[in-house]
Amino acid sequence: MKFFLDTANLDELRQALAWGLCDGATTNPSLVAKEGREHHAHILEIAKIVKGPISVETTSNDADEMVRQGEEFATWAPNVVVKVPMTTEGLAACRRLRAKDIPVNVTLAFSANQALLACKAGATYVSPFVGRLDDIGHDGMQVVRDAVQIVRTYGFETQVLASSLRHPLHVLEAARAGAPVSTMPFKVLEQLFKHALTDVGQEKFLADAAKLAAQLEKHKARV
Ligand code: E4P
Repeated sequence: MKFFLDTANLDELRQALAWGLCDGATTNPSLVAKEGREHHAHILEIAKIVKGPISVETTSNDADEMVRQGEEFATWAPNVVVKVPMTTEGLAACRRLRAKDIPVNVTLAFSANQALLACKAGATYVSPFVGRLDDIGHDGMQVVRDAVQIVRTYGFETQVLASSLRHPLHVLEAARAGAPVSTMPFKVLEQLFKHALTDVGQEKFLADAAKLAAQLEKHKARV
């Protein structure tokens, strides 16, 4: 499973890259706004360090405008993926951008039928938002499971990009579902490393190694 970082923060991206755990990045207007920088300039900074796909979101409800923005974004870096919303206009824009060979991520997908529509529109990625569905009492991961099954059944080229992941169990469940890509906030990536027993076990091994070294020193002093 590929790991994308759901962030526009350069330090987080650099750290994840250093760990070898950043296969790409997803941004949205909310994430870029948090960085307090101009959109275009900031995406260029991200593109300097992230070589994998970088999703950049269009900001319109109109297909013509989405296509215009998408064509512009595609000139910013070769690895830009244009994000369009899961609407009739968004899917129209998706078809037109794909016809020009521009990769597209259909975002804000909340049902398996929406994922199916995105596949039929030729989307490169479709992003089911798991956490936001969980927030309203639905089983968000079921959409990922269904979407993966639909893609496999019909051999669509669209990749299911499990999105809006909020905790490590979401990543595990997306992996179990066979999602080819998950995008997660940096905090969730960090959490994947953690286990209390790892910390306790390592502390004990280091303490015992220190005891061993002390015994060896004593032995050397005696002979
Ligand atoms: C990904 O492309 C989305 O922008 C992101 O996963 C949304 O996550 P949120 O629901 O935590 O805002």
